[in-house]
Amino acid sequence: MKKIFVTRKLLKENEDKLKKYFDVKLNSTDKIYSAQEIIDGSKDCDGIFSTVTDLISAQTINKLSSNIKIIANGAVGFGNIDFIAAKKRNIVVTNTPDVLTDATADISILLLLGASRKAYEARAEAETQSWTWSWDFMLGKQMSNKKLGILGMGRIGRAVAKRAMGFNMEIHYHNRSRLSEDIENGAIYHDNLKSLLKESEFLSINCPATKETEKLINSDTIKFLPDRCVVGNAARGDIIDDNAMVAALKNGKIFALGLDVYNGEPKIHPDYLKLKNIFLLPHIGSATKRTRWDMAYRATDNLITFFNGRKPKDQVN
Ligand code: GLV
Repeated sequence: MKKIFVTRKLLKENEDKLKKYFDVKLNSTDKIYSAQEIIDGSKDCDGIFSTVTDLISAQTINKLSSNIKIIANGAVGFGNIDFIAAKKRNIVVTNTPDVLTDATADISILLLLGASRKAYEARAEAETQSWTWSWDFMLGKQMSNKKLGILGMGRIGRAVAKRAMGFNMEIHYHNRSRLSEDIENGAIYHDNLKSLLKESEFLSINCPATKETEKLINSDTIKFLPDRCVVGNAARGDIIDDNAMVAALKNGKIFALGLDVYNGEPKIHPDYLKLKNIFLLPHIGSATKRTRWDMAYRATDNLITFFNGRKPKDQVN
């Protein structure tokens, strides 16, 4: 039986399935391992089952035992792994697309609604039990009938578009390439970011974190957004330049921001914690039991396929 080093504690059903196919080294305390702990812990293993909290750099990859042939990341994003360094060492990297599309799209909508309708401030008001209904109390910005810009029209972006149609929004998107008409489903393509931002009364960030998307939303690009727009990010913190975003939230250029992901999470830019026009979640895009089961089953399937001598469905390198 091949041996798999599992970096984090999985749901019981997923650990049970893994045990049927592999000799597993589980993490019963769920401690987040350092790079050195991953290197040492996986020394006698054939593969690693990782996730978003594991930063597996080129340096770490180069120190892994030569037995390690695959890193199955239990996440759709794989920016936490230097997959190019892995390829150079002939280590296959896989992710878990599809299974978290709906859960993450739901959270994207929650971010836009939570931010635009002042969910954070409103909850605080409710807790005082001394609020008074008045004509101008807690006035937010209505999402229905507005223009929605989607940055990154992959599986999740398209699922956000589908939901936004229920709000009668006009959908605009920017992607590396235009989608075919049937997949586009009436959404308006922008071949450059500036043109998308100009239309985005609401902006949903759903693109992967890559070198090209790092700090794409910065002081130069924010200028193109309509005044008093709403932004939500359910992708990765790296895509936003936090200092530029804080300035835009303070001067009212951006009406409100919804975030599920952060640069350097679990740390959060201190000003995000002080501002009221912000709706923050702790990276829960895929956090439903069904979705977490499916993500870990999918990573397990990738391991099984690989060790059966076939190319895993979700190989990314
Ligand atoms: C979650 O952030 C994921 O990439 O799956």
